[in-house]
Amino acid sequence: MALSTLQKKQLVAVTGLGLVGFVIAHLTGNFLIFKGADALNDYAKFLHDLGGLLWAARIGLIAMFVIHMGLTANLVINKIKARGSNYAKFENHAQKPSFSARIMPFSGVVILAYVIFHLLDFTFAEKSGIINGVDQGLYGLVVTSFMDPLHSAIYIIAMAFLGLHLSHSLQSIFQTFGLVSVNRLNTIRTISTAIGVGIAVAYSSIPVYVLLNF
Ligand code: HEM
Repeated sequence: MALSTLQKKQLVAVTGLGLVGFVIAHLTGNFLIFKGADALNDYAKFLHDLGGLLWAARIGLIAMFVIHMGLTANLVINKIKARGSNYAKFENHAQKPSFSARIMPFSGVVILAYVIFHLLDFTFAEKSGIINGVDQGLYGLVVTSFMDPLHSAIYIIAMAFLGLHLSHSLQSIFQTFGLVSVNRLNTIRTISTAIGVGIAVAYSSIPVYVLLNF
């Protein structure tokens, strides 16, 4: 059974919301870095010890990612085919689309590239990093990685794109489900931008903290 354009947009919105949930949960876990090596390493061990449950969550996450990207790519291609124009043109909008709205497909691709880099960087890497002559496991790996300013810069730039993507996401989800009236649009846009900027700044605080303290 083929999905309608609206159904595809709704699935993109629902999976996007799930991914935002992961981004917030992952951020709160990562904040344990500020508490020190034991806090982060114990948390990572706790997650790994979940075994089957962790894998169920990972499969759910991968499924959301694939559906979100696959349907978005499909919607973009169909729009280009139907209008013979660029996806960046939003002819029917009452207001001029924001910068974050115009670059949604691009920021999405940057996030995909970042996630691949990030998994190779931390998940598939040996969980080891020496600080003050002692191997501090996953904590050591993260801290020694961010001690390199170039490495930190790559993360901060990626977080800026994540922030831009999220800035438009929330208002987009509200619009997809018809939950926002025209006169509330500006309020939703402001809240959405605040959440995007807040998440980008919060994530970036981790490499900045390492650069300033190690
Ligand atoms: C400063 C920013 C970040 C830090 C310090 C960080 C840290 C980490 C660490 C240490 C791991 C490996 C955990 C382990 O194997 O035990 C990890 C895994 C992961 N991170 Fe991040 N992360 C950051 C940002 C992000 C962002 C923005 C995303 C998504 C857009 C993300 C997505 C993931 C995913 C999908 C995994 C794999 C999870 C799994 O193995 O189940 N991370 N991260």
